[in-house]
Amino acid sequence: MSKPQAIVTRRWPEEVEVRLTEHFDVQFNRDDEPMSPEALRHAFSAYDAVFPTVTDKIDADVLAVEPMRARLIGNFGVGFNNIDIDAAKSRGLVVTNTPGVLTDTTADLAMTLLLSVARRAGEGERHARSGDWTGWRPTHMMGTQVTGKTLGLIGFGRIGQATARRAHLGFNMRILFFNRSPCAKDVCESLGAEQLGSIEEVLENSDFVSLHCPATPETRHLINAERLAAMKPGAFLINTARGDVVDEAALCHALDIGQIAGAGLDVFENEPEVSSGLLDRENVVLLPHLGSATSETRIAMGNKVLENAKAYFAGAEPPNRVV
Ligand code: DGY
Repeated sequence: MSKPQAIVTRRWPEEVEVRLTEHFDVQFNRDDEPMSPEALRHAFSAYDAVFPTVTDKIDADVLAVEPMRARLIGNFGVGFNNIDIDAAKSRGLVVTNTPGVLTDTTADLAMTLLLSVARRAGEGERHARSGDWTGWRPTHMMGTQVTGKTLGLIGFGRIGQATARRAHLGFNMRILFFNRSPCAKDVCESLGAEQLGSIEEVLENSDFVSLHCPATPETRHLINAERLAAMKPGAFLINTARGDVVDEAALCHALDIGQIAGAGLDVFENEPEVSSGLLDRENVVLLPHLGSATSETRIAMGNKVLENAKAYFAGAEPPNRVV
């Protein structure tokens, strides 16, 4: 029996690309250049399955292509805000994502940012390399203590909880969180976490605020000028979720006027562009969307896409079906 034809929009770890060829007749993107909207449209009319990733914009226009051959979108990523889900549904496409396998990696990175910005690690590293370091002194580059402080989480799904676990068990932090649905009592207790009734209450009471909500029309600019003003003076904002959850211009202003002490950001409103108001600041730590970027996790993400696609083409329910 001939294999289904599939196209992968960006490079994947080699071992998963090899594994894909065992089950699909695959077109790879060997030079790893982002595909244009036209190329994406063509992909949907020429392949049975399209395997995009979180930076490929699969919007209504791309999905309006005629004829539509694709039946499956296997997104390489847990977030699927790059895909117009309603349009995919109306074209009869099944969409899958990769939850679970990047939880720990992303929580590790949230802690990396939190520790780095509090302890001025980015700034210190630049200083050590610059040749300007004149030696240890009692007042040199004093940062902010992390251990024992309060961490506020906006969103308490898998990654929010994994971040809470690290912060509470590793750094004895008090955990507050806002989440739309209630969290089971035993989960809260094991993480020393307290669910509050509003985002504002979390912001007002936290020394660090870390964002773990999905990007949806409702969460766009969830952290805006008013909410930044509601944060404790001296608090830090950490974002490993999606860039447009934060109004980046408002964040730059809040940093300019010293309303908050700093920010640790892995995601940006207009990736890969980073606001100039962030680039020249010492009190921000900036990473290029590395949340899930370990070899182990990227291989596991590729395997998840494959597992879902294999199930779909075998006539079974894909384990991580979004629609
Ligand atoms: C995802 O999977 O949504 C991540 O942002 C990729 O790191």
